[in-house]
Amino acid sequence: MTLDMKVLLEEAKKGALSGKVIRDVKEEILGHLSGIKRKGMPGLVQYLETSDFFHAPASTRFHGNYEGGLAAHSLLVYTEFDALLSRYGSSLPDDSRKIAGICHDLCKVEVYKKNEARKGRFPAKPYTFEDELPVGHGEKSLWIIGRHIEPTEKEMLLVRWHMGGYDKNYEMNEEVIKRKCPELVLLQSADRIVSGWHNV
Ligand SMILES: [Fe+2]
Ligand SMILES: [Fe+2]
Repeated sequence: MTLDMKVLLEEAKKGALSGKVIRDVKEEILGHLSGIKRKGMPGLVQYLETSDFFHAPASTRFHGNYEGGLAAHSLLVYTEFDALLSRYGSSLPDDSRKIAGICHDLCKVEVYKKNEARKGRFPAKPYTFEDELPVGHGEKSLWIIGRHIEPTEKEMLLVRWHMGGYDKNYEMNEEVIKRKCPELVLLQSADRIVSGWHNV
């Protein structure tokens, strides 16, 4: 692996990723996902490669709002999630760590457009959000994953509910979700650490 995490974080702090970091993030993600031996995985990898996943931002004006932000965010969330799971002794399989960590925000594929108004007199957010298939956040990520592979029960719970309390329906299902998937709190934490602390 050639990705230098320190360089990624330095560039992210300045608000732009270099072509090299974008390419290295892509290589690392493809390496992780291609190693998963599950029916349909080549199709999911091909989907990522032919969509804007590796070039899209992660938000319009908050964390990762630059080219390559979404893939960098996804890789970092996986890395942080994996570290937290190991730290707390979880036996969640490697495949599930990768699928949930890297694919939790696939709902953000093909929805951010460069904000042309930015070129005018008034500074505006760098991207606009235009979702032509608004079927939810975790819901949409899970739907995209499910078009290619069959996720396990825990992978489904992790991806669907990764927004936790920010999702209005979370509270009424919280007891079951927490009982069936105690790892969820670690994915939510990883997501917040990466976006809030690293701004990726
Ligand atoms: Fe998300
Ligand atoms: Fe996220």
